[in-house]
Amino acid sequence: MADVTDAAFRALVASRGKPDVFWTEFVSADGLYHTREVKKMKDDENPLMRELSFEAGQRPIIAQIFSSKPDMISYATKLAAALGFDGVDINMGCPDRSIEKQGAGAAMIQNPELAATIIRAAQEASPLPVSVKTRIGYNKESLDEWLTVLLKASPAAITLHLRTRKELSLVSADWEQMKKAVAIRNRVNPDVLLIGNGDVRDLGDARLKVGESGCDGAMLGRAMFGNPWVFVGKNGAEIPLSEKLAALVELAHGFEKLSPPKHFAVLKKHTKAFVADFPGAAELRAKLMEADDADGIEKIVLDATASSR
Ligand SMILES: Cc1cc2nc3c(=O)[nH]c(=O)nc-3n(C[C@H](O)[C@H](O)[C@H](O)COP(=O)(O)O)c2cc1C
Repeated sequence: MADVTDAAFRALVASRGKPDVFWTEFVSADGLYHTREVKKMKDDENPLMRELSFEAGQRPIIAQIFSSKPDMISYATKLAAALGFDGVDINMGCPDRSIEKQGAGAAMIQNPELAATIIRAAQEASPLPVSVKTRIGYNKESLDEWLTVLLKASPAAITLHLRTRKELSLVSADWEQMKKAVAIRNRVNPDVLLIGNGDVRDLGDARLKVGESGCDGAMLGRAMFGNPWVFVGKNGAEIPLSEKLAALVELAHGFEKLSPPKHFAVLKKHTKAFVADFPGAAELRAKLMEADDADGIEKIVLDATASSR
């Protein structure tokens, strides 16, 4: 998830309870080519290469890339293989206008022939497993056509965000559609793993949804916000406040070490999520929002903990 699952947050998740698979933030394949091969930017100064950095404890890890150009996908896949990733995932679901304008993300749903070519380009570029993350349709659910095209391209896995492009995240994810997807998968290409995504609240909810729909796994997104314990089955309410604040401080220090650095304001999304649902949360959050480095976060947390004793 862009500006969420960076190496610092993944390190925190890895230390509190790992998922079976990590995905990176999505990265523009065109951008990788342009910055490295045209602008000749050094990797340690390249923000796109930062998104592709990871530590040993964060495996298996899949690099998520996007492009509408097969040669760019091929380039980024070779790079991911050279960097030691365990797989490559192609984003075909992002509704962001700036991504769709490039013909990538969810726009790919309207260009299934190109989508198949893109998958093939990745498959031919390296021995890494190739997967796809997409939605159940563009303006309306179109699993019969869209999923069939994807399955015929034989990716290792397909993650289905169970909403259409048009629905963005405005309606509930429709897990009933996963049953239909599983039936199509079983008929067209039983070797492809199907992973469901959308509104999975916690591990128990994931197991329930996977069991009811018959898919092979679930991908959790927003359920991780403020809860790096989610993959060991704990929900945010069970975690003592002191542990949550300690996790935020640890994250802030890790975040600051990202290279090249990210704007510190990006951390605010996490701060909001960790500092919520307890008496005094709003006041503490307001103070933390003013901090402009990890030491500042740590000091505010220490002061708050001391004054609550
Ligand atoms: C802040 C944010 C960033 C996201 N970035 C990505 C991304 O980089 N790649 C991707 O495939 N999906 C991305 N998504 C979509 C999520 O992966 C997921 O499909 C969506 O949030 C629904 O699942 P959830 O209810 O478990 O969060 C992002 C979502 C959010 C809220």
